[in-house]
Amino acid sequence: MMLVYAKIDSLQEKLTSFKSNISVGFVPTMGALHQGHLSLIEEAKKNNDIVVVSIFVNPTQFDKKEDLDNYPITMDSDIAMLEDIGCDIVFAPTANEMYTDGLKSEHFDFGGIEYEMEGAFREGHFDGVGTVVKRLFEIVKPHTSYFGEKDFQQLQIIKALVKVENMNIRIVGCPIYRELDGLAMSSRNARLTVAHRKAAPFIRKTLIMAQQKFGTENAPSVLKWVTDSFEKHPLLTLEYFSIADVETLKPIVQRVQNHEYRGFIAVKAGKIRLIDNIEL
Ligand code: PAF
Repeated sequence: MMLVYAKIDSLQEKLTSFKSNISVGFVPTMGALHQGHLSLIEEAKKNNDIVVVSIFVNPTQFDKKEDLDNYPITMDSDIAMLEDIGCDIVFAPTANEMYTDGLKSEHFDFGGIEYEMEGAFREGHFDGVGTVVKRLFEIVKPHTSYFGEKDFQQLQIIKALVKVENMNIRIVGCPIYRELDGLAMSSRNARLTVAHRKAAPFIRKTLIMAQQKFGTENAPSVLKWVTDSFEKHPLLTLEYFSIADVETLKPIVQRVQNHEYRGFIAVKAGKIRLIDNIEL
């Protein structure tokens, strides 16, 4: 039977009752679970004895109050989905339980990757993510933790977090899970208007075209093509498109051998902000 805890003490009491050779896989979430989350949990189940999932909408990582206030909360169906999939333990704390000293973020130095893309457009976002994930890691003490590649920059931030904090936790990135029409799954998709939901697969289509173009054209030319394509679109507004090195996340001009690149995009669809990325 799946166990659900809201208190750190009771969760830790349970976790410490397990034998020391039991491997713990951990999937942190903000709830409003979808197939993308479930694919992370499946991966965790395959490779660990126990799977812990946290559900906590972390206030300190939201740069806009409106986004936090409107973040979907579907706790009952989340719990039912987790039970169905065979998750062992759910940790669903309150904000007071997680932040005993007020809703403050720690400031982190992740070597610069925190200032690119999402970091540039969402002030304080990665300090908030770093703060909550560090705290969750300290509480759960997992062997391995799983993150989706949709938030590729976040995945790189978490890898940097365990390095700077000297935490012995393996971080695993899992492929983006998509709707049939190509839209990357996200809890925010549920808040799209019908028209914006219909328009949203344009993001993935544009990324695929950009991937093809990057085979023969340089980055500035692909960038210009993507920008022009969104300028012509009646419903979607481009916030950024960047062709960046996967290690530094810095935008590049020219391909260099033995480096990996990705195209990263953020788009406003009405009030909803969508992100996606593609290997190049
Ligand atoms: O990706 C998310 O859902 C969140 O950023 C995370 C990792 C659960 C931290 O709040």
